[in-house]
Amino acid sequence: MNLTQEQKDRVESILAQMTLEEKIGQVNLESPSIVGGFDVPFEELIEMMTDGRISQEEFGQIMATSTRDYHEDDIRAGRVGAMMGDDPVKANELQKIALEESRLGIPLLMGFDVIHGLRTVYPIAIAEAGSFDDDLFERTAHMAAEESRAHGITWNFAPMIDVARDSRWGRVSEGPGEDPRLGARFARAKIRGLQNDQSSKEKYVAACMKHYVAYGACESGRDYNTTMMSNSMLHNVYLQTFRAAVEEGAASAMASFNDLNGVPCTVNPYTLRTVLKDGYGMNGFVVSDANGIKECVTHGIARDDEDAGVQAMNAGLDMDMGTHIYKDYLRKAVEEGRVSMAVLDDAVRRILNVKMWLGLFENPYVPEESIAEYADRDVPQAHSDLALEAAEKSIVLLKNEESLLPLQPDTKISLVGSLADSRTEIIGAWAMSWQERDCVSIRQGLEKRGANVKYFACGGPEGDLNKEEIEEAAQWGDVIVAVLGELDSMSGEASSKADITLPGKQRKLLKKLLKTGKKVVLVLMNGRPLALGWEDENVPAILEGWHLGVRMGDAVAEVLLGEKVPEGKLSSSFPAVNGIEPLYYNHPSTGRPGSKSKFTSRYLDAPFAALYPFGYGLSYTTFSYSDLTVKEQKDCLEISVKVANTGEREGTETVQLYMQDVTASLVRPVKELKDYRKITLAAGAQETVQFTLPKQDMGFFNNDAQYVLEDGLFRIFAGGNSRDCLEAEICIAF
Ligand code: BGC
Repeated sequence: MNLTQEQKDRVESILAQMTLEEKIGQVNLESPSIVGGFDVPFEELIEMMTDGRISQEEFGQIMATSTRDYHEDDIRAGRVGAMMGDDPVKANELQKIALEESRLGIPLLMGFDVIHGLRTVYPIAIAEAGSFDDDLFERTAHMAAEESRAHGITWNFAPMIDVARDSRWGRVSEGPGEDPRLGARFARAKIRGLQNDQSSKEKYVAACMKHYVAYGACESGRDYNTTMMSNSMLHNVYLQTFRAAVEEGAASAMASFNDLNGVPCTVNPYTLRTVLKDGYGMNGFVVSDANGIKECVTHGIARDDEDAGVQAMNAGLDMDMGTHIYKDYLRKAVEEGRVSMAVLDDAVRRILNVKMWLGLFENPYVPEESIAEYADRDVPQAHSDLALEAAEKSIVLLKNEESLLPLQPDTKISLVGSLADSRTEIIGAWAMSWQERDCVSIRQGLEKRGANVKYFACGGPEGDLNKEEIEEAAQWGDVIVAVLGELDSMSGEASSKADITLPGKQRKLLKKLLKTGKKVVLVLMNGRPLALGWEDENVPAILEGWHLGVRMGDAVAEVLLGEKVPEGKLSSSFPAVNGIEPLYYNHPSTGRPGSKSKFTSRYLDAPFAALYPFGYGLSYTTFSYSDLTVKEQKDCLEISVKVANTGEREGTETVQLYMQDVTASLVRPVKELKDYRKITLAAGAQETVQFTLPKQDMGFFNNDAQYVLEDGLFRIFAGGNSRDCLEAEICIAF
């Protein structure tokens, strides 16, 4: 986020004119308050949805017809800096009040969670990351930025770039998986896509990278739980995505709910000031997560709300989401000298910088044509096409015995499982503004393509199995395609699970289907890696479909029917069974690496290794790797590997480069992803893929947060996943 000198001067001149109350207004993020339209208190309504007394749909209907207070008077008085919402008409009304009726005419930032698309929902991040396609990451983010602007949103609470290694955590769905390097490239591309096209104000928004930081390491995968880690782990893994996002110019960050080594990230001067602002030089601002400041009292780190507010502001938390603590207590704190004016000014300046950079002072309104583009219409064709491309590239073929897939033309397909017929469960967590009309179910995708298909619900993630339907399905088709997995609501925030096998009676359903003797293809819809040991042993073909967004049905149908060759890889390792999370390929070397012998790092009753490791994914063709060479140059290693398409179809492969620092002053990971490249090869073709690994990239952060390059032996690996690699060794003196 670069401002011109003129823009910086304008920010300073506005700051100089502001009263204390107006400054405090800027650090206050408001949401429209729900004030009526139903008979019970709002909190009770949330409870009713949580405990199932009303469905999510009913809750949505109530919300849509509820009456809201948009805090117009506060906006007029300069007491609001930012507002949540996705309604462009309302956004225009509120901006008009802010610009024309407040004393200094400072526009509002309009914030919203646009995590994987707005109207055009594309795959959840854990899926999209598996495309290993930086250009795609950028284009989908750019689409989200354009749609956001058309909805009056200027500030996206994205990208979510938490490295996450415990699949019990429901929020693994929202982020780019377990690897910091893939995550960092994902983060960079997302920031570029959201922010960099400043050719017109309708094309870019301020990104808000989140959740800063280490939220993905919550103990035992339980949401909001504590995180404890060494400084070295923090800097080498969990900070990497954020560092990359700042280097790419991220305009804002959201502090995470968790405490890190005992200090909540909301009030953590080390992460907020020392690392993010002073260290990385971030010139944007930091917002709390919802209610985050108040929760510091519950954490037991602040005596009361006021104390929490003072700690947060002094630590470098610039904006309060949802508690009104800054609004209610900052004046007193500044007047009494517990928060200095310089600290408050710094926060306000950062927020004004973002508004200035977005061009909101000139024209903050959504043009009527943009509003009309989405009102009551299908999403633009180009956006829908991009959602399809993203979905196609994110599908991962996990198993394909006897080349059961693609299905032969004219195969009679018994399509089983209620998820197969759902247009709503394909969307995934954290998507709020989509419309069912834009969504294609798997059933529709197959029918549209003229497949010989008949649908049998039989059962789903919830509820009982239907015996008769199971029998009919087995009788009718030549093959059974069972679409099983998780509902949208089973992943995302506050959706941690201890059991990550197929939910409900779905494994039982699979058993019954397999027992009929018909070949079964399992298509998964899910928001987290599942424990699939039993399925892998018993089902001949498994396709990982995740929650792929509005065009999921088309993408899955194309792959099942062979119109598209699967090319996605896993951005997170899959376990065979429950109980072995956290699970990630790049774990530190133990002194007793797991093996068959007893006194090694293993379980008596479960495999210790991933069933499907990071980077894994099959194709309808096969690739072979050979001739790995590593040459040392002055500042880099030149690495090459030959990749051949040994099958009968053209296919796309993600060639992955890993490294191990064999001997170092700290225990290092057994393997770390350093680079990747996608190549498309015709049947029988081969290519030598070259990588340049800068020597500067071969170091690590020690526990003093210093980046060190240490001489010694390094192993270089290349392959199509993190497990099956060629390897070479080289000694380096830096
Ligand atoms: C989530 C954030 C989100 C915020 C605002 C919080 O509960 O943790 O990811 O951006 O709500 O909706």
